[in-house]
Amino acid sequence: MRLKGKVAVITGAATGIGRASAVLFGREGASVVIGDVNDEEAEHTVRMIRDTGAKGTYVRCDVTRASDVEGLVESAVRAHGRIDVMFNNVGVNFYGKVHETTEEDWTRCLSVNLGSVFRGMKYALPHMLAQGSGSIINTASVQGLVAFESFAAYAAAKGGIIQLTRQAAYDYAPHNIRVNCICPGAVRTPMNPEMMDPALDGGARLERSSQRVPMRRVGEPEEIAHAAVYFGADESAWTTGHIMVIDGGQVVKGP
Ligand SMILES: NC(=O)c1ccc[n+]([C@@H]2O[C@H](COP(=O)([O-])OP(=O)(O)OC[C@H]3O[C@@H](n4cnc5c(N)ncnc54)[C@H](O)[C@@H]3O)[C@@H](O)[C@H]2O)c1
Repeated sequence: MRLKGKVAVITGAATGIGRASAVLFGREGASVVIGDVNDEEAEHTVRMIRDTGAKGTYVRCDVTRASDVEGLVESAVRAHGRIDVMFNNVGVNFYGKVHETTEEDWTRCLSVNLGSVFRGMKYALPHMLAQGSGSIINTASVQGLVAFESFAAYAAAKGGIIQLTRQAAYDYAPHNIRVNCICPGAVRTPMNPEMMDPALDGGARLERSSQRVPMRRVGEPEEIAHAAVYFGADESAWTTGHIMVIDGGQVVKGP
């Protein structure tokens, strides 16, 4: 029960890493409020949280809309009186090199990936400042650190999340508010459909992704969720501005 008594808000928890984190947070004793736009899968996550014996709630929240993110945070505070953890986890892949990226996709990608982190922090912080404590966790990606082919806007957004994390960690450290970042490598979630269902392409994508990883396999969402629990728990009370890479060794690999 490493999160006993804590209140956590997690965005993008209908599936994948967010869902695995929401369930693990529940198992560790947190009350969990999730925000997403996939109502059906989000309600399923809520049932999974409740199955752990914890309190779970879903609030419909499109993270590209400031009023939705504010509403998500406010409903958590209204229901539970505080917010201890804000896990800004939503992310959506956008493909294309710079010259192939439309203005529309650029703006949308920055808003859903980087803007969502800004909004999550912006609306959680006043409560955390009033409480004198809080832990913010942002999901970036190894693609914010190194280049993969044809991910211009996504890489820019993820790189932005890393530096926004460091900046906020510095600004709010005197207030006992910690801001950390997780950079997953290739993880088997619905974001990568061919990894979830290798039959889609005869296993080619899963095989290619696995071979790129020194540990020779892709990650499971729970392997990222454990890091989120660590950052949310008091055991990381002196850890802030940390960029945690969890990728089976992919970014340490030389040419
Ligand atoms: N899976 C990977 O290989 C991988 C690698 C590196 C980083 N990441 C990052 O991990 C995070 C979680 O991704 P995942 O792999 O679990 O993917 P996922 O597709 O399973 O989860 C993303 C969630 O975000 C929700 N979402 C999408 N747009 C939204 C919006 N506008 N408002 C609210 N919710 C919205 C989706 O409904 C879904 O529940 C993302 O930030 C992603 O960029 C994933």
